[in-house]
Formats: sequence, C-alpha cells, structure tokens
Amino acid sequence: MDFSNSANHIIVALDGMDPRQAIEFTAALPGLRRVKVGLELFMSGGSAVVEQLRHQGLAVFLDLKFHDIPATMAAACREAASFGADLITVHAAAGIEALAAAQQGAVEGAAAAGLQTPSLLAVTVLTSWDPLYFKEQLAISEPVDRYVHRLARLATVAGIAGCVCSPLEVASLRAAHPKPFVLITPGIRPIGCNKNDQQRVLSPSQALAAGASALVIGRPITKAEDPAKAFNECCRSIEEI
Ligand code: C5P
Repeated sequence: MDFSNSANHIIVALDGMDPRQAIEFTAALPGLRRVKVGLELFMSGGSAVVEQLRHQGLAVFLDLKFHDIPATMAAACREAASFGADLITVHAAAGIEALAAAQQGAVEGAAAAGLQTPSLLAVTVLTSWDPLYFKEQLAISEPVDRYVHRLARLATVAGIAGCVCSPLEVASLRAAHPKPFVLITPGIRPIGCNKNDQQRVLSPSQALAAGASALVIGRPITKAEDPAKAFNECCRSIEEI
C-alpha cells in the first residue's frame, strides 16, 4: 500500500449513498485517493460501482467482512481482486487456514486480471460488542482487548497484511505488530467535530501518531457542508505526522 502522501492515509467511507451519489460525490473531491465501499453500497452497486470508482483513479477498500469456510473465502477474494479491490476485509475468527486461503485467492484473482494483489485486513472484534454480552453470548472468558490481540496474531500467522482496529486498540496492536503490518482505524473525528454515534474517537493526527497506517473517515467528510474543504483540512492536519 502506498502511504506516500497525506491523502493516501485517508479512506473516505461512502456510506448512505447509492452508486450514482457515490460517483458524483467522489468526482467532486479533487485529491481524494481512497474510498471505502461497505455492504450497503456494494449491495446496490455490486462490482460495477467498484470498477467505476477505480476508473476515477480511486483505490477501493472493499469492506464486506468475509467470514466463511476456506474455499469460499478464497473464491470471494479471488473475485474481489479480479475487479480491482485494493483492500479487502475478512474476519480473523474464520481462522488461519481460511485467512491464508483468502490471501491465496486474492493473489490468483489479481494475477489473472493483471492487477496488483490487494491487501487483506482482518477484522478482530466488532466494536459494537458490549464486553458483558461478548462474555455471555459467546462464552468467551478472555477480556475483549486480549481476544483482539489473539485474533490479530492469526492474521500475522496467516500472512495477511494487517487488521482493522478501533482507535483505542491502535497503540497496543502497533506495539505488538510493527510496520509494515497495516492497521486501519475508523472512529476518527477531527477536533471539534460531531462524534455522531462513535463513542471512542481519536483525531486524524492522534490516530497516526498512535501507529495507524490509514484512517477511515465517513460523516465528518461526507456530511460536511463543504466536503472538499473538510477532506482538505483532514489532509492538512496530518501533513506533519
Ligand atoms: O461516519 P464515520 O466516520 O463514523 O464512519 C466510519 C466508518 O467505519 C463506517 O463505514 C463504519 O461502518 C465503519 N466502522 C466503524 N467502527 C468500527 C468498524 C467500522 O465506524 N469499529
């Protein structure tokens, strides 16, 4: 992954948009390099929206959080790589064999299409889990933060590029997994910005200083009165990091 300038560190989450809105929105943001396509946009736009975004020169983070048996993970990543996803999320809890199969599928799909191999990112524990419910419903007695580290280790053993993590986990995961292991974090709010439904947030510069490789930012940019200005301010705020 290329992190050579500040715009490459910012991945704008295209949530709440249909394909047409997503294409118009991104076309109006000069300097934008990376976008995140999640379940909502992918369900309405499919691979065509990913290809259209790529044709605008954007790298696409395909956040579909694959979790299945190894053969299915491999096939899904082969397809995603073949239509040009640059980053792909998979659930670490699928296990080492499935993660390694997913990686192999991505390598094959990219090679067959003559594209660069995407980076796979493991999702550890979704931040929507309440620690008490986590223990009660899943019968996992290990504290959530230790469990996150356990799952992140599966990613390294399987040889995938990195993890998606909450802002609160960035520093401890970075201490355990030096670069080039990739850590991408959502829950980013520029200083003074509305937190929306995010409970635990870091500013862009705090998250990068804590060891994040790149940041997912949605509403502070997509819902801003002037999205281009908000994006440029985010870029400027991390130029010195
Ligand atoms: O609008 P906002 O900046 O909160 O968007 C953050 C993006 O990151 C959304 O696409 C959301 O689904 C995703 N995300 C998150 N928190 C997590 C994991 C993913 O907000 N723990």
